[in-house]
Amino acid sequence: MEITNVMEYEKIAKEKLPKMVYDYYASGAEDQWTLQENRNAFSRILFRPRILIDVSKIDVSTTVLGFNISMPIMVAPTAMQKMAHPDGELATARATSAAGTIMTLSSWATCSVEEVASTGPGIRFFQLYVYQDRNVVRQLVKRAEEAGFKAIALTVDTPRLGRRESDIKNRFALPRGLTLKNFEGLDLGKIDKTNDSGLASYVAGQVDQSLCWKDIKWLQSITSLPILVKGVITAEDARIAVEYGAAGIIVSNHGARQLDYVPATIMALEEVVKAVEGRLPVFLDGGVRRGTDVFKALALGASGVFVGRPSLFSLAADGEAGVRKMLQMLRDEFELTMALSGCRSLREISRNHIKTDWDFPHYLPAKL
Ligand code: FNR
Repeated sequence: MEITNVMEYEKIAKEKLPKMVYDYYASGAEDQWTLQENRNAFSRILFRPRILIDVSKIDVSTTVLGFNISMPIMVAPTAMQKMAHPDGELATARATSAAGTIMTLSSWATCSVEEVASTGPGIRFFQLYVYQDRNVVRQLVKRAEEAGFKAIALTVDTPRLGRRESDIKNRFALPRGLTLKNFEGLDLGKIDKTNDSGLASYVAGQVDQSLCWKDIKWLQSITSLPILVKGVITAEDARIAVEYGAAGIIVSNHGARQLDYVPATIMALEEVVKAVEGRLPVFLDGGVRRGTDVFKALALGASGVFVGRPSLFSLAADGEAGVRKMLQMLRDEFELTMALSGCRSLREISRNHIKTDWDFPHYLPAKL
């Protein structure tokens, strides 16, 4: 059957993947309230389209940290992509660069930074988890820099791993033959079976729980790459990120996999945008599945969005071709939304093009 939207890839992936893998990709933390809310909140934002505007030409291109990209839709870092498809991150890298946009490679990729770089040209960011052993971090950042990665996305919402109950039940571990390739030479590449989620045990053993704002300065001292702070969802933290010289903020709740009952990212976006006062670009990830979602995020002040699970599920369903098609569908839907809203370029997308249930609490039923 023909695939006509991004969500359909999830069903195919669920049929194809071993349960342990599908559950790892799909699940959120604890009650998974935020997981649902990341999607639901988009449905509480409606359009105020403008009509009779010449939309015969639409430009969806944009600039991120000075790099020209084809559209404001990028790929978020998601770990262990070879569990989805044998080509793993290499396929994602090829598809993303063919789409003319940015891929963020996870620290916990099953392909190394060098292997991903060898797929050819492309603008790529490297997502960083800070390990207790700072020499490991130093080496890794240097390798990413040498491999041509253009920015570091520092994940700040994971001092410990959120409680994902299916990973605990499944005793999640990396399937045989796969390693966290970036750490292989450092003897930190394996995720073994434990009495818990193997990943939760790995994080508890390796990730630096004492990470704090001053470490951003440390990171700036070891790299000249711009640093995006990934995982900010409050105005307070957004202001501190500006003070510490972040190059940008990614409003993210880690795909609802960390602290449950945080708001949907699309609900948190506006307070962060207001606090930043235009001093930094603000991006969003979490629950983006439609071009209309992309438009809504931009209308609330985001400079672009990232997609996580859509890339994993499309990769699982159809490898590189799947990821290409997923990105193309989002692009087409976004362009259509612009046309039907009377916007010809990203600059023309404004707050007035949407209406939210917090603008007009009576406008929508409380429960949808
Ligand atoms: C993630 N995410 C993530 N984030 C990160 O900083 N480093 C990582 O290694 C991972 N790994 C990862 C694995 C899986 C299976 C998922 C689903 C997510 C979070 C990711 O970057 C992003 O914040 C969310 O995926 C965005 O939400 P959606 O698009 O999946 O709803």
